[in-house]
Amino acid sequence: MKPLELSSISEIWKSALQILGQRLVTEGTEPQLWFQWGKVWRGHDSNGVLPPTELPIHLLEAKGAKFAGRQWCSIVTDAMTWLICIKVDNHGHNSEIKNWNPPEAIFPTLKLLGEFVRMECLLGLTLRILENRAGEHMGHWDRVRNLALAIGRKLGIAGKEFVELELTALLHDIGKVALPGSILEVSRPLSPAERRQIESHSVIGAGMVREIPGMEKVAEGVLSHHESPDGTGYPKGLTLEDIPLTSLIVGAADAFDAMTHFRPYAAERTYHETLDEMANQRGRYDDRVLWALKEVLKALGIMEIKPISPSTLMEPNVT
Ligand SMILES: [Fe+2]
Repeated sequence: MKPLELSSISEIWKSALQILGQRLVTEGTEPQLWFQWGKVWRGHDSNGVLPPTELPIHLLEAKGAKFAGRQWCSIVTDAMTWLICIKVDNHGHNSEIKNWNPPEAIFPTLKLLGEFVRMECLLGLTLRILENRAGEHMGHWDRVRNLALAIGRKLGIAGKEFVELELTALLHDIGKVALPGSILEVSRPLSPAERRQIESHSVIGAGMVREIPGMEKVAEGVLSHHESPDGTGYPKGLTLEDIPLTSLIVGAADAFDAMTHFRPYAAERTYHETLDEMANQRGRYDDRVLWALKEVLKALGIMEIKPISPSTLMEPNVT
């Protein structure tokens, strides 16, 4: 299972590594911080996420153990074990962290990081359930999250609102777990009753999220992710000024991803075709969001690409 890796907590990782870097400067360079995740370890360095990897268990016990050109030591905070390592100097300088004690300043940061990591893992588990319930969501929530965050950055969203945007993007369709599997897999046009049932997912999802303390804004974002600026969306038919910006962003990222990937009921399109179609549906999407989406795709240099999908991977029919 792929780790969720919340972008919203990258600042806490950075802050923990900064504290460690300052305190370990005489011992070595390039600190890394790892935690156990099932059978593998997940870690970060100052450049970001490191690939999940297996680490020998003895690193947990022997303070100052050497492995992979680094020295390792462990710290336990709130039942969570962390491994810290630094690159050692093999050319004459004595680089030992055997006698090194973690600075007090690191504990509150690790405690906070631990709480976020646990939340991230639980969220990952929830999304895995959604993926298993509705095949079309394989990777969908992850792509929508990445696209929504890129649009959000372009529009200057930061801090708490950035966290809310990421959580809204991840959880936007969580209400679908309450719908029968049969309706999620329909590949023919839906009857009005079936459509109403499908559309109930935003209300159901918002209800689930609202029960989590401090997630009211995210619940509001989930509730409104199918609202349209021109009032033609659902569930309330809100207009532009009443729709949260996070919902407008997630709604556009969601539609863009759906249109550019294989669905049983429609052929996928190129990014360029999809953007043109979204721009032509005047009033359906927010103009600022569409502008930012186009800028993000231009910066990636992928405007003309058609994403890989089951239909494009099919063997050509040679007779
Ligand atoms: Fe949705």
